[in-house]
Amino acid sequence: MTGFRTLDQAEVKGKRVLLRVDLNVPIQDGVVSDATRIERMAPTILQIADRGGMVILLSHLGRPQGPDPKDSLRPIAAETARIIGRPVAFVDDCIGAKAEAAALAMKPGDILCLENTRFHAGEEKNDPAFAAALARLGDIWVNDAFSVSHRAHASTEGLGHILPAYAGPAMEAELAAFSRVLDAPQRPLAAIVGGAKVSTKLELLGALIPKVNVLIIGGGMANTFLAAQGKDVGKSLCEHELAVTARDILLQAAAKSCEIVLPVDAVAALRFEANAPSRIVSVDDVGSDEIILDIGPRTVEHVVSVLGRVKTLVWNGPFGAFEMEPFDNGTIEIAEAAAELTAAGKLVSVAGGGDTVAALNAAGTADRMTYVSAAGGAFLEWLEGKPLPGVEVLRVK
Ligand code: 3PG
Ligand code: MG
Repeated sequence: MTGFRTLDQAEVKGKRVLLRVDLNVPIQDGVVSDATRIERMAPTILQIADRGGMVILLSHLGRPQGPDPKDSLRPIAAETARIIGRPVAFVDDCIGAKAEAAALAMKPGDILCLENTRFHAGEEKNDPAFAAALARLGDIWVNDAFSVSHRAHASTEGLGHILPAYAGPAMEAELAAFSRVLDAPQRPLAAIVGGAKVSTKLELLGALIPKVNVLIIGGGMANTFLAAQGKDVGKSLCEHELAVTARDILLQAAAKSCEIVLPVDAVAALRFEANAPSRIVSVDDVGSDEIILDIGPRTVEHVVSVLGRVKTLVWNGPFGAFEMEPFDNGTIEIAEAAAELTAAGKLVSVAGGGDTVAALNAAGTADRMTYVSAAGGAFLEWLEGKPLPGVEVLRVK
C-alpha cells in the first residue's frame, strides 16, 4: 500500500513490537459472542512471532472509568490464545514495573497481552507521559486496529509520535477495501444508509450525496423522510422535528443528481415486538396507530433492481427492526441479493457498522460480500470523510 509505512517493511526480528489491536469484542455472560475482531488480527500476531519478533498486545475493552474487573482483558487474552493456537501471557497492567519486567523477559516468538489501556486516564487523554510509559515496553509500534483509529488516544495515535510506526495487514486490508468504494469506485456507486435515526447520520448523508449516484435510505430514519414528504407514518420511530432538515437533504441530492431511494411500502404492526401481527401496506396508507417495522416487498424489489444496475455498493445500517423476527426479512433479502451479485462478479460491496455486520452475519451473507468492516464508529467517520488520527499518524511524511 502506498503512502503508508507497513509492517512488511519493518525489521521485527528480535524486536519488541507493540501491536495495537481492537480486542473490544462483544461479551455475553462472560463469553466472547463475536470473535471477528480477534480472528482478523490473528494472522498479524502470527506473522510477527514467526518473523522472530516479540508481540506485545495493546487494547482497550469497554469504556471503564479507571480499573474495573469487568473490563479486564484477561479472558480475552485466553480467547486470543485459543484462536491463534499459541500461548499468550498476560500482565494485569499495561505500564509500570510489572509490564516492563514481562516485556524484558520475552523471547523471539513470545506473545504477551497487557491489561486494558483505558484503566489509565492517560490513554484517552493521549497524555504524552502515558504514551512514553507504553513506549518503554517496545521498539516499534504497529497499529492494526482500524476500528479504534477514530480515537486520538495514546495507544492508537500517541505512540506513533514516539516509536517507528507501521500499519498492520488488517489495517491495510481495511483501507484498501474502503478506497475501492469511495476513492476511485466503479460507477454507478450506491450507498445504503439505514438505522434508527437521521440525527446520528446527518453528516454521513451530507458527505455521501456529492459522492454517490444512488442513495438508498432505510430503517427508522426513512420514516423521517416519509413524514417530511407529508406522509402519515403513524406511531413509527420518526424524528418529526427534523422535517426541514430531511427536505433540505432531498434538495441537496436533487441539486447533485443523486438519486434517492425511499421505501414505497412497509411491513406495519400495532406493537413493537417480535412476531407482532403485521400487514404489508403502501407508505401512503400507514394507519395512524401502526408502526413501520420493515420495508415491504415492492421496496425490496426496487432496491434489488437498483443493486442490479450499479457496480459498487457501500452499506451502513439495516433496513428494518432486524433484531426482531420476522422484521429482519427486508434486510436479509437485500443482503442476499448484494451477496449474490458480488459472488457473480457484478458488484463490489463493502459494508460496515456493528448492526450492519450483525445483520449480514445473521443473513449468512457476510462472507460473500467484497469486504465487511469490523469497525463501527470508525467506519462511520471514515465514510463521513473525516481524517482518522490513528490512520493519519501512519502516513509517510
Ligand atoms: C468500537 O467498538 O467501535 C471500538 O472498539 C471503539 O470503541 P469506543 O467507541 O469505546 O472508542
Ligand atoms: Mg463502540
